[in-house]
Amino acid sequence: MQRTTIIDALSSTELDRLINVRGWVRSRRGNKQISFIALNDGSTIKNIQIVADLSKFSEEQLKPVTTGSCISATGMLVKSEGAGQSVEIQLTELEVYGTANPEQYPLQKKGLSMEYLRTLAHLRPRTNTFGAVFRIRHHMAMAIHSYFHQHGYFYFHTPLITESDCEGAGQMFQVTTKDLYRLKKDEQGKIDYSDDFFGKQTALTVSGQLEGELGALALGKIYTFGPTFRAENSNTPRHLAEFWMIEPEVAFIDKKELMDIEEDFIKYCVRWALDNCKDDLEFLNQYVDKGLIQRLESVVDTEFVRLPYTEGINILQEAIRNGKKFEFPCNWGDDLSSEHERYLVEEHFRRPVIMTDYPKEIKAFYMKINEDNKTVQGTDVLFPQIGEIIGGSVREESLDKLNAEIERRQMDTTNLWWYLDTRRFGSAPHAGFGLGFERLMLFVTGMQNIRDVIPFPRTPKNAEF
Ligand code: 4AD
Ligand code: MG
Repeated sequence: MQRTTIIDALSSTELDRLINVRGWVRSRRGNKQISFIALNDGSTIKNIQIVADLSKFSEEQLKPVTTGSCISATGMLVKSEGAGQSVEIQLTELEVYGTANPEQYPLQKKGLSMEYLRTLAHLRPRTNTFGAVFRIRHHMAMAIHSYFHQHGYFYFHTPLITESDCEGAGQMFQVTTKDLYRLKKDEQGKIDYSDDFFGKQTALTVSGQLEGELGALALGKIYTFGPTFRAENSNTPRHLAEFWMIEPEVAFIDKKELMDIEEDFIKYCVRWALDNCKDDLEFLNQYVDKGLIQRLESVVDTEFVRLPYTEGINILQEAIRNGKKFEFPCNWGDDLSSEHERYLVEEHFRRPVIMTDYPKEIKAFYMKINEDNKTVQGTDVLFPQIGEIIGGSVREESLDKLNAEIERRQMDTTNLWWYLDTRRFGSAPHAGFGLGFERLMLFVTGMQNIRDVIPFPRTPKNAEF
């Protein structure tokens, strides 16, 4: 018999018919006459109740039906008299696909800690919380493609293996086929990459932006959506070594238009979650973060603050004068840390902030320099609970200014010639940003740790599964 998914079974109005469902047993309880099985197949957070009449099924037959086991159940879909569900299945045929020994199955108990569940990343998608998170993750990916497709952007695929360090922060994972035990070096002791796989030194990309800009300067509006890698040794609840980034890049827009897109895009994604992930959000709102749905609704309805960095520093220093204590300093020129960002967003303005015009020293080489020659047209979006969720900027389109900046930073341009060519031939004003997919996921799910919104997190000293 063909399988019906539990989400379809639960919403079915066609009752008193035979159906077949398959899934993992969440629990079984009952008495000498009757046994109730709660079954989940991942299609929804909700379980379906299967009722086994013990005059038709022996205790022996039901014995392998324990928490975690996988079964196929056929029976009549009927109206349920019990509380908490509208329909249930009266079991007529049972097949056990896989047992789960109750002495050994690790997801037996409720209320396991997030830390412990991380050691069970192979099984945790079967819990309510992670089922909800990963379904929402899918929906957010759909929201992102839908937004850009509707707005005339093209999905542009940038390489994962590259020789350029877009952010210039030196946080790249090298890619090599060289025998590390027998490295060939030149007279100066430098490694000779000429006989390496690509004939040069390569690494995993930290951002698809530089190649994305090439796309925008031909197709007008593009976006990337793929994995990015950072070998930064930060053990925080907001950093991964492998994370997914969405990077739109748009020709012919200025800073104001860039900020409009950032705000519109994020609101669209949050609205999408509210519209498409209701059951999962309600679950998370109840068990993970009581303020979640209200926070999501408030972001959709409020205008983001637009705040130049210099004004932000003034606000923070005023706060310090009034007794506020921060761990890190925040004088003009300092990179803000997440405590500063969160103070501005959560305590001072109480809504998302787009911070602009940062000191050029704390930003990457490609950002458009303002007339003051001190600040650049960066446009980061700062969010409650998260801090920086988007990093964006207008790009420097003048070849002369870009070259001067590259020289000032003493950057090696031998592998950036193609990037500079876009400024040489038909250069155009353009801008773009990068949204950290897992940071968006943190916000939308209310989860506290970035390791818990990606199925298999990669962090320092951890690449299991
Ligand atoms: O601010 P970042 O470094 O900006 C760029 O990479 C630009 N090239 C983007 C662009 O303009 N096209 O990173 C962008 C975003 C951050 O705002 C943050 O949300 C996320 O990527 N991010 C991380 N997420 C998880 N783990 C990390 N280690 C992250 N580093 C950055
Ligand atoms: Mg950034």
